[in-house]
Amino acid sequence: MLLRITIFATIVATCCAVAASAEPPNERLAIGQKAPALAFTDIRYLPRTVAELGETKAVVLLFVKGDCPLVVRYGPKVKSLEEEYRAKGVRFLALNVGANESVTEVAWQAVKADWAFPIGKDFDGKAAKALGVTRTPEVVVLDKEQRLVYRGRIDDQLRLSGQREAASHEDLKEAIEDVLAGREVHVSETPVDGCLIEFDALAALPAVVPKEVTYSRHVAPILAKHCQECHRPETSAPFSLLSFKDARDHAETIAEVVRQERMPPAFCSREQTQIVNARRLSDAEKALVLAWAKGGKLEGDPSELPPPREFPAARWKIGEPDLELKLLTTQEIPAEGIIPYRYALLPHVFLQDTWVQGVEILPGNKSAVHHANLAYVKVGAAPSNENFITGYVPGGDAMVLDSGVGFRIPAGSVLALQIHYVTTGMKATDRTSVGLVYAKETIQKELRHFQGVNRRFAIPPGDSHHPVTATRTFAADSTGIGMFAHMHLRGKDMTFRALYPASGGEAERSEVLLAIPNYSFDWQISYRWAAGQKKFPKGTKYEVTAHFDNSDFNPYNPDPTATVKEGEQTFQEMMYGFLFYTHDDERLNLEIEPKTGWVKGG
Ligand code: HEC
Repeated sequence: MLLRITIFATIVATCCAVAASAEPPNERLAIGQKAPALAFTDIRYLPRTVAELGETKAVVLLFVKGDCPLVVRYGPKVKSLEEEYRAKGVRFLALNVGANESVTEVAWQAVKADWAFPIGKDFDGKAAKALGVTRTPEVVVLDKEQRLVYRGRIDDQLRLSGQREAASHEDLKEAIEDVLAGREVHVSETPVDGCLIEFDALAALPAVVPKEVTYSRHVAPILAKHCQECHRPETSAPFSLLSFKDARDHAETIAEVVRQERMPPAFCSREQTQIVNARRLSDAEKALVLAWAKGGKLEGDPSELPPPREFPAARWKIGEPDLELKLLTTQEIPAEGIIPYRYALLPHVFLQDTWVQGVEILPGNKSAVHHANLAYVKVGAAPSNENFITGYVPGGDAMVLDSGVGFRIPAGSVLALQIHYVTTGMKATDRTSVGLVYAKETIQKELRHFQGVNRRFAIPPGDSHHPVTATRTFAADSTGIGMFAHMHLRGKDMTFRALYPASGGEAERSEVLLAIPNYSFDWQISYRWAAGQKKFPKGTKYEVTAHFDNSDFNPYNPDPTATVKEGEQTFQEMMYGFLFYTHDDERLNLEIEPKTGWVKGG
């Protein structure tokens, strides 16, 4: 008898041990228990914790996925709940748990929903697991002591395949009210019928990879194609990625930045597929790099290496300039600290209208010049961004115009550089140059641009989502060339839209031209359409909307207690959404003198 019991007990124990090992490793956090420290990645790719939300009466964590319809449908409800309870000391945070949804796409989801509160990425689903969350949109409420007091649905109005006229249970709202009143939450757990979180997919690679991934066969071609233009000697990138050793020694970091899609730098949503110069790995390339870095980091057979990528030895991307203008004095850069923008006029007066087709800013010291902007100013006027020509950012393109298109530097102006220097830990010097290539052929069209600027704003202290907009209208049928955003350290996102006029029975139509949902002051990249492809009929409205984050959760905010207005310095703000274009019917027929850029006989 005793024996039989033992055998039975053994069978039970075996069965349950197996069942238990199939469960997620974490015990499901019970209501009333204190939540562990919860980490996530913010829209600036920084590791953050829920504790960094600061002093709160309660925290609401909302789990989301971009491809979950219920998340999108609950967007407005979440927005209004957050607005209602923000003033009462409740902080909201959305965490994305979608497989293969990049930080930029996650940020774009929040911009589209117009959420003022932070969103982040729970890359491994660790935070969701720790809180026992299994679906989206599922919410949890933590009280002041970080205890789990509510887990479940937002309310019972919207279901996966239908909806009620109104909610009969406002579960989240009631839980928050209970916490604020210091009561026990009376309904602390509710069922959620949203989209399942695919924990396995979160851990998996974004595409199928071969059994043995090697550097020589698989990884080297990807690094050559997408990384080496910046990661080679004498550029602003911190190390080269030219050899097996380079890659192996940085394999973990490469895996991190590739997984996050932080590298290669893009900062625009994938949704605007007409942008042709966004740098991006395909899912297959991404999977290969990750599999290699997380696997054996094998070298493979060096005879399979692709031929080394050739980089032009020339100093200039625009070709040899007709006119090179150097800063008059050498700039001294201290070893540490923040350096206010510096302005310098370049020593050359343009006596006549001068037509150029190539313009390039060439930093003297690439590790000290963070970015620079070039504008022309009338002799005697104060330098400003007003007549912007082009900018320099690490890895950015020089301005090279299509044939027949020219940029006009007006008679009586000089060029002004605005340079943002960064310290490198060592004293440094710089003498940046500007190169101009004059138009060599008949100019038919003048390069035009909208600045999309708004100078009349005041961002209130602490405001995490302050909108500023600018609109312009195309005065003639036009062809778009590209776009470019400029903001300072509180700039969070910028969305460029076109509002096409009604025509031929078609109603007015709005289109997002470009979304930069996680703007980075460090990466002021320009975004281009294929030449001649983007058409804007006369009367099309161009509309730019930016949001500024003046909250203390913005890690780069110089002063969350300040009311921030327009100004040149980085502790002030700017809102510029440039769009470059030409007029379709313009036929200037200007013959240009190739040695001066002046109109012949002009
Ligand atoms: C347009 C230029 C450019 C391209 C293209 C580029 N990088 Fe970078 N990369 C940089 C710069 C500049 C930095 C340093 C500043 C920063 O981290 O943002 C950097 C930083 C890094 C870092 C260090 C990050 C850290 O946390 O310290 C890694 C790793 C990296 N890049 C890998 C890659 C890989 C892999 C690719 C290609 C898939 C790539 N980069 C493409 C310019 C570039």
